[in-house]
Amino acid sequence: MAADDPDPEPAPGPTDLLRFITCGSVDDGKSTLLGRLLWESQQVADDHLRTLVVDSARVGTRGAQVDCALLLDGLAAEREQGITIDVAYRHFRSASRRFIAADTPGHEQYTRNMVTGASTAELAVVLVDARKGMLVQTRRHLVLVLLLGIRQVVVAVNKMDLVQHAQTRFDAIEVEVRAFGHRLGMRTMTVIPVVAVDGENVVAPGRSMPWYRGPTVLQALDGAPLDTNPLQDAPLRLPVQAVVRPHADFRGYAGLIVSGTVRPGERVRVLPSNLQTTVSRVIGPDGDIALGVAQQSVTVTVADELDISRGDLIVAADAPAEVADRFQATIVWMHEAPLLRGRSYLMKIGTRTVTATVSPLRHRLDIDTLEHIAAERLELNQIGVAELTTDRQIAFDPYCVNARADGHDIERINRDTGGFILIDRITLDTVGAGMLDFALHRSANLHWQAVAVDKAARQRANVNGHGSAVVWLTGLSGAGKSTIADALERRLHARGVRTYLLDGDNLRHGLNKDLGFTAQDRVENIRRVAEVARLMVDAGLIVLCAFISPFRAERRMARDLLGAGEFIEVHVDTPLAVAEARDVKGLYAKARRGELRNFTGIDSPYERPEQAEVVLDTTAIDADQAAELLMQRLQSLQLLGPL
Ligand code: ADX
Repeated sequence: MAADDPDPEPAPGPTDLLRFITCGSVDDGKSTLLGRLLWESQQVADDHLRTLVVDSARVGTRGAQVDCALLLDGLAAEREQGITIDVAYRHFRSASRRFIAADTPGHEQYTRNMVTGASTAELAVVLVDARKGMLVQTRRHLVLVLLLGIRQVVVAVNKMDLVQHAQTRFDAIEVEVRAFGHRLGMRTMTVIPVVAVDGENVVAPGRSMPWYRGPTVLQALDGAPLDTNPLQDAPLRLPVQAVVRPHADFRGYAGLIVSGTVRPGERVRVLPSNLQTTVSRVIGPDGDIALGVAQQSVTVTVADELDISRGDLIVAADAPAEVADRFQATIVWMHEAPLLRGRSYLMKIGTRTVTATVSPLRHRLDIDTLEHIAAERLELNQIGVAELTTDRQIAFDPYCVNARADGHDIERINRDTGGFILIDRITLDTVGAGMLDFALHRSANLHWQAVAVDKAARQRANVNGHGSAVVWLTGLSGAGKSTIADALERRLHARGVRTYLLDGDNLRHGLNKDLGFTAQDRVENIRRVAEVARLMVDAGLIVLCAFISPFRAERRMARDLLGAGEFIEVHVDTPLAVAEARDVKGLYAKARRGELRNFTGIDSPYERPEQAEVVLDTTAIDADQAAELLMQRLQSLQLLGPL
């Protein structure tokens, strides 16, 4: 199902708008409930209706009746599988307001869609199957809903017909749900017994549960307070999306105002540089305007010539956002490959993308008990609290802050300036979503000390008479990395080149002796090696690194630490069978016997390089020939100086 909305906009009418999400486990009847709301509020377009009647007869589960779930499961393939994927937005209305519902799938691996669906919602409808009661999924949904800043929850206890409409069953579930909500600190919860397939307590009160006197789902939606997060009243936040420069006399900064207002003459600051200026013009789609408001796209010009670029944040001068490069953050992990401490990811916050590293992970949340559990990694769908370090200073607001407006204490949710997503650096998949809790102020006390004799100074003086770079050899254990590195270093040494060989086994006796071979230890191993290699390149050496370095992400991290042309990745490409047959250290045999765990190639992965500068086929050439090839490469890169 597409994320955009295939339904026509409802006819103009009530102007009040409530956005909500629906969440539940597979088969809770979420689609049926939402379908009912649409059906009974008569918002079903004629062509949809025709398809619905045909489909109900073909694959429906309701006999001769129309199956409301089919109204939402838009794709034929999905209809036949009976599951929903991705997020679908549905419009409908009651007599008094309009609704946009984000229908998010309940499948275990689809937390991501829920996060997407929740990003603009003010209320959540959480489905519970009356027969099953609260499931881990239900708890996870409630936790996520709360974390994402949704403060109003309607719990629909569905399929009451399958528990004989029993009040005792409903009461038991209500007690459990409320107790959990209470522990989460959830304030507004409405729990409603429902039979979605028959429409009982969906729009109209049901007949078979006279003991229930509360609102129906639609009444609860109708009665929910609107606009609980008034962005208009918050201080100005305008993330710069683009610098507009049609001709030399005009320089404007375009973006969507995520909160507050902006008018000509107003003092603003530009973050993270913290320079102040005055807004000269505010331009909307039809020309100059006197006032730009939250959720409006504008272009502003400023009085001073400042260096403002995409990703900067324009803020109210008297109520600026914070600037930091170290944070405590809550992270929801959404990918099959776990989040590893020490690994770096791309972090997108507003219009800015930076590199962020998790170090360390403080804890993860046990969804059943809400306890904090010590953790080194986050698996799919887990929620944890971590320290995040970014490679640059960024402007941000805490995701959730307590503010004061009109003399009242209110809670403000800063989804745009406090929420972020994490992206895998190699695949560019979205792997996590998170919320910045607060800044950890290292930067205030820690400065980068400028030194007179830096890398550039050394290069200018050419003290060594040759260039500096890292030759990074990666490959399986027993591939021949160390042997080739040794042969190469001998040749370099003979030419008077200053070198240093960083070797996996050797470093694990000293600098890295606290590390083993779990994925997170290997990440940390390579992080330290890459940092050391960088220092040595600064010092002017040719650095040879021989590490299995099985993960693409860390090899990329090492490459990114160095300058262009300073990282030469060499894949010592020996097939597993060949390395295992050599088994110089007897480790493969041990691993096969199960005496050595996490052994690369056996029960721990090796991700082959995709764009290594050099690939050495050790079944075709020996170590000396390989070293000779590398010498030629270094020579052609003019790293070795004159002979
Ligand atoms: S890396 O994966 O973190 O890059 P590194 O290159 O430092 O590994 O160390 C690999 C060396 O450690 C191997 O050559 C081998 O001698 C030894 N070793 C011991 N246990 C393992 C293991 N489980 N997996 C791989 N190598 C191991």
